Amino acid sequence: MHILVFDSGLGGLTVYDDIRKLRPDARYTYLADDAVFPYGRLEEDALVARVQAVVGAEIARSKPDICVIACNTASTLVLPHLRAAFSIPFVGTVPAVKPAGLATRSKLFSVLATPGTVRRDYTRGLIEEFAAGCAVTLVGCPGLAGVAEAKLRGTAADRAVIAAEIAPAFVEVEGRRTDVVVLACTHYPLLMDELAALAPWPVTWIDPAPAIAKRVTQLVGKMAEGAAPGAAGRALFTSGRKADGALVTALAARGLAG
Ligand code: DGL
Repeated sequence: MHILVFDSGLGGLTVYDDIRKLRPDARYTYLADDAVFPYGRLEEDALVARVQAVVGAEIARSKPDICVIACNTASTLVLPHLRAAFSIPFVGTVPAVKPAGLATRSKLFSVLATPGTVRRDYTRGLIEEFAAGCAVTLVGCPGLAGVAEAKLRGTAADRAVIAAEIAPAFVEVEGRRTDVVVLACTHYPLLMDELAALAPWPVTWIDPAPAIAKRVTQLVGKMAEGAAPGAAGRALFTSGRKADGALVTALAARGLAG
C-alpha cells in the first residue's frame, strides 16, 4: 500500500501523522509544494493548474494507490478536477464546519483558515448547510501557516503574530462567547501549544486529521493483523531545497527521509 500525502508545505504532516498511526505498515510519499508556498495567497485558476501539475507528475512517477490532499486551501477547489483526471481515490481536507456546528453550545464558533479558504464558495456552502442557527466567524490568517512552517524548521514560533491573527476568532455577544474554533488549515495543529496558551479563553479546537485518517482506512482498508511496519517514507520538496537541521529531525521522527 503506497499512500501519497500532499500539501503546500509541512502542514500536511499533521494529517500524515494520524494516517500513519492507523496504517504504520503502508509506504508513504510526502510531497510539499514549497516552491510556491503559501497557497493561501494564490488566485483560484493558478492554484488549480499548479496542484494538477504537481500532483499529476508525482502520481505518474511513483504510482500511489491513494492520494490525500492534506491542504484545505487546495481541497476546497481542486478535488473535482483531480478526480476527473486520475483514476486513483483522493481524500481531501475541508473545513470541519459540520463537527463544529454539532459541538458548539454557545452557537458562536469560528473558522481559522488561510485567506484563500475563507474566500471560497465551498466554505460558505458548508456553513449554509451545516451551521444553521450558528453565528460563524471566518478568520483569514495571512501569517499563521508561515509561523508553523518556521517552527518545524527550528525557529521559535512568533507569539505576537499568532496572538494578533487569532484574536478576531474570539467573539463575545450578549454574554455568549465563542466556544469552538475550527483549525481549517493543516499547518495550525503544529502550533497547538501556542494556540492554547494565547487564546483569550479556553475553547474546543477542532483538528480534522483523525477523521481524515479514518476516511483513508475506509477506502484502503485497515492494517492486517501482524503486518510489518512499512519501509521509511520519502519527503519531497518541489523547491529542490534539501531538508536540514530541525526539519531533518522532525521528518525522521515521522519515519520520513528528506
Ligand atoms: N496547509 C494549507 C491548508 O490546509 C495551507 C497553507 C498555505 O497557505 O499554503 O490550507
